[in-house]
Amino acid sequence: MSDESVKTRLGTDDSRFDAAVARAIAERVTQKALGDPAQPRAPQGLSRQFVEEMLAVAGNAPFHYPAHPEVRGDGPREPWRTYLLDGAGCRAYLARLDPADKPGKIADMLAAAEAMACVTWLPDPPEAEHDADGAPVFSDRNIEHVAAASAFIQSLLTLATSARLPNYWSSGGVLRSRKYLDGLGAGPNELLLGAVFLFPRDLTGLDVKPGSLRAERAGPAAWSRWAAL
Ligand SMILES: Cc1cc2nc3c(=O)[nH]c(=O)nc-3n(C[C@H](O)[C@H](O)[C@H](O)COP(=O)(O)O)c2cc1C
Repeated sequence: MSDESVKTRLGTDDSRFDAAVARAIAERVTQKALGDPAQPRAPQGLSRQFVEEMLAVAGNAPFHYPAHPEVRGDGPREPWRTYLLDGAGCRAYLARLDPADKPGKIADMLAAAEAMACVTWLPDPPEAEHDADGAPVFSDRNIEHVAAASAFIQSLLTLATSARLPNYWSSGGVLRSRKYLDGLGAGPNELLLGAVFLFPRDLTGLDVKPGSLRAERAGPAAWSRWAAL
């Protein structure tokens, strides 16, 4: 999308949006690039520095409540944590997946990805915010922890799009389980919110699947209205 077509789409010549920002948000799209776990792609060389720069920018996402002191310990106040794999790390992690866990498409994507960022969130401690089964409850604080971590992930996706890197927010499948979170070094209280995959710019030879709801968008005319006061 050119800067001009962003303006056309927004319908105004004097839009105060920065065209590059609007373009990255508007062009973000799910691209699930599937490789062959039996013959993983050689990493194309996306640098760790690039990923770290993404985190530095996306880390400005808003958060309302700090991670609970009992959960974060000496750690930072942000209610998200991120565990990173570069291309070589994705292949190494692929090799560690247990077929008995039925990793499915996660394995296919680890065979193709240039990087993966597993983003966790930190529920408040059990006595405060968990139900009788030990699951975190939808307390105001927990909802806002997830909301903040989601804003962080969306920022990652937007930045990846602005760098023309195909990307995908996965719920994580098998990577949600304690076993795989522990393997990445996540703390015992952390829960996976998303496995963010970054794929090579050149998708030649990869099977690329779109998001299933992409065509289902209704748009703001359907889901917004000015409140009539
Ligand atoms: C929280 C969250 C979790 C998601 N998890 C998955 C997933 O596990 N598998 C999947 O195919 N798509 C997943 N998606 C991507 C959606 O399917 C996708 O965003 C939707 O189909 C719309 O397509 P688009 O992203 O191209 O606009 C997830 C999206 C979000 C926001």
